[in-house]
Amino acid sequence: MAQEPIIEAVQLTKVYNGHTAVDHLDLTVYGGEIFGFLGPNGAGKTTTLLMMLGLTEPTGGTVRVMGLDPARHPLEVKASIGYLQENMGFYRDLTGRQSLAYIAELNGLERKIAQERIQEALEAVGITAAADKKVVTYSRGMRQRLGIAEVLIKKPRIAFLDEPTLGLDPEATNRMIELIKDLCRRHEMTVVLSSHFLNQIQKICQRVGIMIEGKLVAQGPIEQLAREKLGVGDRTYTLEEIYMQYFQEH
Ligand SMILES: Nc1ncnc2c1ncn2[C@@H]1O[C@H](COP(=O)(O)OP(=O)(O)OP(=O)(O)O)[C@@H](O)[C@H]1O
Ligand SMILES: [Mg+2]
Repeated sequence: MAQEPIIEAVQLTKVYNGHTAVDHLDLTVYGGEIFGFLGPNGAGKTTTLLMMLGLTEPTGGTVRVMGLDPARHPLEVKASIGYLQENMGFYRDLTGRQSLAYIAELNGLERKIAQERIQEALEAVGITAAADKKVVTYSRGMRQRLGIAEVLIKKPRIAFLDEPTLGLDPEATNRMIELIKDLCRRHEMTVVLSSHFLNQIQKICQRVGIMIEGKLVAQGPIEQLAREKLGVGDRTYTLEEIYMQYFQEH
């Protein structure tokens, strides 16, 4: 795996109406890794991702995505990041396939390439059979899968996945985890994964960052954080144990 930084935040800060949502964050994500971004509700994870995407401007500090400032180069940065949002909005009157075609068009994909990628993405997430049904008829899990397919259409260098397995059944969750691993391995995609499902994070992430009340309280490989917080035990600690230790100290 390449160990070049692909995202670097330095003292990144966001203040909303006097409330510091992101507080002097120093964070590095390396190319090709699956980075787990953890923290309780309201910790500032989504706000951080939005600043990395250039969708909201930092109040202070800097962030670079592939060397670019997202606030100054929003188009380049957005073109290289696929973003699965927390609350996805879909055009409910379109079918799954039409939604993907629309995303392909927005991303300037040629028709033939678009067709191929749509088919590939539908198969990857397992909604081919429902592709020509309207999104309004989809279950929550099917919508989640369509959201992932929208990310795949772009073949982005980086994917921000905010709770990608929320609402998925156990089998679909495992498939999603395998899919994310595979994307990193085969397409050298870098993934920033935000989730409250710590057992899933432990299965797929090499490094994690833990954010609490706007501050990044830990960052590094899971085993390293375990050693730092819990010492050398006679067994492997779960990420949940490590996380709770950081949480209790704050
Ligand atoms: N547009 C906004 N205007 C004002 N405050 C906001 C805005 N967006 C987020 N906040 C506040 O910033 C803080 C961080 O929110 P954020 O959505 O980044 O948290 P999160 O870590 O993604 O939480 P969750 O796990 O619940 O998704 C919260 O206190 C939230 O109320
Ligand atoms: Mg969030």
